Amino acid sequence: MSTEYRCSQKWEVFMSEIIRVLSGIRATGKLHFGNFLGAVQNFVKYQEKEGTICLYFIADLHTLTTLDDPEELRKNLIEIVKDYLASGLDPERSIIYTQSSVPEIPELCIYLSMLQPLGELQTIPTFKELIRKFPERVSLGLITYPVLMAADILGPKSFLVPVGEDQVPNVELARDIAKRFNNRYGETFPVPNMMQDMVRVPGLDGQKMGKSESDNAIDINMPLEEIRARYLKKGVTDKNRIRASDPGDPYNGCKSVYSVHELVSEGEIETRKIANACLAAAIGCAQCKDVLVENIGKLLIPFQERRRELAGKDGYVREILHEGGKKARALISETVSEVREKMGIVIY
Ligand code: ADP
Ligand code: TRP
Repeated sequence: MSTEYRCSQKWEVFMSEIIRVLSGIRATGKLHFGNFLGAVQNFVKYQEKEGTICLYFIADLHTLTTLDDPEELRKNLIEIVKDYLASGLDPERSIIYTQSSVPEIPELCIYLSMLQPLGELQTIPTFKELIRKFPERVSLGLITYPVLMAADILGPKSFLVPVGEDQVPNVELARDIAKRFNNRYGETFPVPNMMQDMVRVPGLDGQKMGKSESDNAIDINMPLEEIRARYLKKGVTDKNRIRASDPGDPYNGCKSVYSVHELVSEGEIETRKIANACLAAAIGCAQCKDVLVENIGKLLIPFQERRRELAGKDGYVREILHEGGKKARALISETVSEVREKMGIVIY
């Protein structure tokens, strides 16, 4: 995959000015380990860097494209914010908010939609994927999904958007819209970048782990013994490795375990040891899954401990969202005033 559009220079190069980092997650269900590794861990990483303003939100408007149970939406939203906090997001250092608390975002979406050809939206891979999963839900909202996402990103003039690999086409579209706007109305938006090291965490069946996929996800709040049982029972490994004495193919044959080792083990040497043991039939799949679950536990057990402390603290979470919403709105409404002015819109 071309990396030309990603953050092509070292972070330090940008340290001379404050940069805005932004990302969001839909409230379609419980967070899984793919969300955790692909998105939330990076949110925390950028919060820790000097010279950043980080904005992390819940994309509740985007959630409406595929979820129409209001109770579930409200509940998922609060639970995900608790996951954010237990992962290490700090409302003193990051702006944590809901998309709907900034009405200027859908307003900006309308303005940006004037610069976006319709045909392109129908061919974008993320749209095709959503139609495949939800053929009965092809609404106007689903088609304009990436334009609303561009409004999320461009509203605070974000420079970096940490997301998992599946979101690349959507962020690319935001980049295109930023360039078109700048060309037509004068320099306004930084062209947002993606991380160089985006990941795609496989689920138990080897496909992308996802909230709405069929039973392939590891819920980050699941007890470790349950995670172990799920990997042992459902984790797809090299199907050509029939007996433990057969050598395995960790790189091309193992669908759900080896690539997660690469993401969670303690470094390259340990990962190589696992690959070599598999290639030499010195480790069986069950034992390999055991090592994996131990390493997953090193990340999830401390998270789950902090997460339990937030049980019953919904009021605290609402307060954070309220304060975060005010801060995000202040930033984004500045941009939207500038856009209105440049496009000739006057509010009388
Ligand atoms: P889902 O695909 O489970 O519905 P979202 O679309 O809400 O999850 O994704 C939220 C964030 O998590 C996005 O940045 C997305 O790229 C990331 N993400 C989701 N699934 C994975 C995965 N399997 N591997 C890596 N990142 C992922
Ligand atoms: N589409 C993203 C997802 O499904 C969620 C999202 C909405 C988002 N707006 C965003 C991510 C802006 C990054 C930036 O995961």
